Amino acid sequence: MQRFGGQRWPPVLHHWVPLALLVFGAKLSLEAAGEIVICNYEKFHLFDSMYRPRTDNFCVFNDVYLGSDVKGADFLASSLDYKRVAFANSKFPLVPPSLFKNFDDIRELYVRRCSVEMLKITRLLEKVYAGGNRITSVQLDGNASNSLRELYLDGNRLQGLANLTNLPELEVLVLENNPLLGNVDFAQFGRMERLWKLDLERIGMSRISNGLKRPLAELRRLDLSNNALTYVHVRMFRTFPKLEHLWLHGNKLYFMEAEQVRTVMPSIRSIVIDDNHWGCGHLATLGKQLRDHGIIIRHGNCRTERAIHRVCCSDVTDVVDTRYLIEMGIRQETRVQQDVRELRAENDILRRDLERFRSQLVELMANITRPVEPLQPNESEAPETDGQESDEQPESGYATGSFEDYEEE
Ligand SMILES: *[C@@H]1O[C@H](CO)[C@@H](O)[C@H](O)[C@H]1NC(C)=O
Ligand SMILES: *[C@@H]1O[C@H](CO)[C@@H](O)[C@H](O)[C@H]1NC(C)=O
Ligand SMILES: *[C@@H]1O[C@H](CO)[C@@H](O)[C@H](O)[C@H]1NC(C)=O
Ligand SMILES: *[C@@H]1O[C@H](CO)[C@@H](O)[C@H](O)[C@H]1NC(C)=O
Repeated sequence: MQRFGGQRWPPVLHHWVPLALLVFGAKLSLEAAGEIVICNYEKFHLFDSMYRPRTDNFCVFNDVYLGSDVKGADFLASSLDYKRVAFANSKFPLVPPSLFKNFDDIRELYVRRCSVEMLKITRLLEKVYAGGNRITSVQLDGNASNSLRELYLDGNRLQGLANLTNLPELEVLVLENNPLLGNVDFAQFGRMERLWKLDLERIGMSRISNGLKRPLAELRRLDLSNNALTYVHVRMFRTFPKLEHLWLHGNKLYFMEAEQVRTVMPSIRSIVIDDNHWGCGHLATLGKQLRDHGIIIRHGNCRTERAIHRVCCSDVTDVVDTRYLIEMGIRQETRVQQDVRELRAENDILRRDLERFRSQLVELMANITRPVEPLQPNESEAPETDGQESDEQPESGYATGSFEDYEEE
């Protein structure tokens, strides 16, 4: 097997290597570097974006253990145009680069629970399942020219999303259980115009920041559960016109402003609000508001005595009330500031529109008066042209009509 060892073996040779040899190679388990690893083409079970079981043909590598020098291994299959590749019972700090070199048409990569620390996403990859690793860093090939549609990074150690903003094709982003992420501004997802599912459960978020300049028009499912949110105003979700399901359970919410819920979230169907720090008084009002708008408040099992709409709440609201009052004071201020900011932004837009109309008007005026000379530049008798123009005017009936008539001619 010497001459097949390591990466000196030029990839171009892979295609004519007899199958028998590859099968023989498959019996070797990869413990030392410089080996060839073969995957088995088989039915592989995984879960889709809605957590439904899915079975598909993958080429599966089993028991691949690599140390920090991952370059020693050469990954092969009986056919190298397999588009879906999975690793099972494997362990390596990064997906060996030779995998991408050999499987150069790879579209799906499954590397769950492989102790991956650095994830590289190549240009053609459409779905990457990389949950349950130790990923702190993600590298994207080819900036915004990637094809990624679904990215699962749940249960990792991400500290920021800097490298994950340029994903224009992304539809599903699962970042659940990355407790070091903290407060993420929705603006970071601004380029993902096709995103319909965003999972930010258990990322250590204590407040919602929404600096989105344009709406995320496709977002239907937003999970913010099991964070440390204390206050929510439905207007924080104004940039998600199609939002249908919102998960807010398992936070520390004691106040939620939901009066304008239908205006701000016209498509909302359910908001999960249980397991928070609700006072019963506020919960009663909130629950009624939501239910009156036909919104389902899904609930867990409240085992304490006090519950409203079967959501746990507390009558001992002394502490909560003080915090609530302080918080509301602050919110009121920031809300006024936010209103002013929003009005200012709208004002700017109006002003720009006005400016545009003004210059169009100037142009129109110029166009109306211009034709008189250029139409008959040779005419020396000015009165005749004036006469023609005034003949046309009565037919059109109104002043600007004469211009439109002229434009059409
Ligand atoms: C972001 O990408 C760059 C270049 O690909 C890389 O050097 C850096 O480590 C990445 N950072 C994170 C936090 O993933
Ligand atoms: C990636 O593309 C964005 C715009 O699409 C650009 O602003 C950014 O500078 C690019 N980054 C790199 C590293 O080329
Ligand atoms: C004015 O006339 C020019 C040239 O005929 C044309 O390109 C332009 O669109 C016109 N402007 C308006 C506002 O209709
Ligand atoms: C006047 O019109 C004639 C044709 O009708 C043309 O040959 C001539 O160049 C025009 N003169 C000017 C000054 O435009």
